[in-house]
Amino acid sequence: MNERMPLSIKGLYKNVKMMFLLLITLCVATAGHEITQLKVPLHADPRRAAELSCHFRMDDQKLHSVKWYRDLHEIFRYNPSQKTQIRLFNVTGVMVQGGSCEQESCVVRVMPLPQATRAAYTCEVSTEGPMFQIARQTKHMTVVAMPDKDPVISGAPNLVRPGEQMLLNCTTDYSLPPADINWYIDDEIQKPEAWQRTELSAPLAGGLRASWRVLRARVPAATSGALRVRCEAVLQVDPPVLRDVSATLTVHSRTQLSKYVSNKGGKVYVNANAVVAVWVFTVISRFMSL
Ligand SMILES: *[C@@H]1O[C@H](CO)[C@@H](O)[C@H](O)[C@H]1NC(C)=O
Ligand SMILES: *[C@@H]1O[C@H](CO)[C@@H](O)[C@H](O)[C@H]1NC(C)=O
Repeated sequence: MNERMPLSIKGLYKNVKMMFLLLITLCVATAGHEITQLKVPLHADPRRAAELSCHFRMDDQKLHSVKWYRDLHEIFRYNPSQKTQIRLFNVTGVMVQGGSCEQESCVVRVMPLPQATRAAYTCEVSTEGPMFQIARQTKHMTVVAMPDKDPVISGAPNLVRPGEQMLLNCTTDYSLPPADINWYIDDEIQKPEAWQRTELSAPLAGGLRASWRVLRARVPAATSGALRVRCEAVLQVDPPVLRDVSATLTVHSRTQLSKYVSNKGGKVYVNANAVVAVWVFTVISRFMSL
């Protein structure tokens, strides 16, 4: 027993050493070919084809094939040893327009469907047998059409009174996905009522849509000086894209001109002139009924 122990430890040591050497050999062999650069645009415009490229280094290895995948579906294959070297495959969500390869790179042009989707594009480079080693890299591309212009606020008066009702409209430029609109008054987000949600235009080519949202709000009674309204257009992609615009309204400071009057239980603000008009109307109607 005592004499066999050191022997088995010795044997174990030998095995570990051999495995270690084998591992190093494997690592050196794998390091012989690799993908050096994978270029996939973060965003693809649905109106034009996107170009993806895969650069690799073979060192002493022989190239067997280069394949491109969209998610799990093959869209491109390059086999330098075959008669038809390049083959393209249309799959759901993308049309493959073309592809070409050079010594150490392959390029593929894809036309994504006009839907704001995110997909994984993988380049796979494999060596000839008997090893058939594979190098693989993946990047994601999202279909997005950025708005060219900032949103526009319409209906903003230059001058407002405390308590006055405002009706503003914010319109965004065409984009994919269409923008969601948020309104802020002095940096406070305005919760939309049911009829004030973001509305969408009909789609253009490439599925782009404009959107708009109205804001009906009252100028806070205690405001004086200025009021800042801001419209923010958000494209819900990863990471989100924001464009915004703001308008500054001057608030009429002579609040004594405004009077608080009761109207059938509801409250409305009217200015001094309107009060006079109501008074005149009341007097006239009384006079007429006599
Ligand atoms: C992919 O579809 C487009 C449009 O239908 C077509 O022009 C093209 O030839 C197709 N490509 C392949 C590889 O089938
Ligand atoms: C807001 O603007 C859009 C277009 O920019 C228009 O179609 C819509 O009717 C406007 N809404 C109001 C309430 O003015």
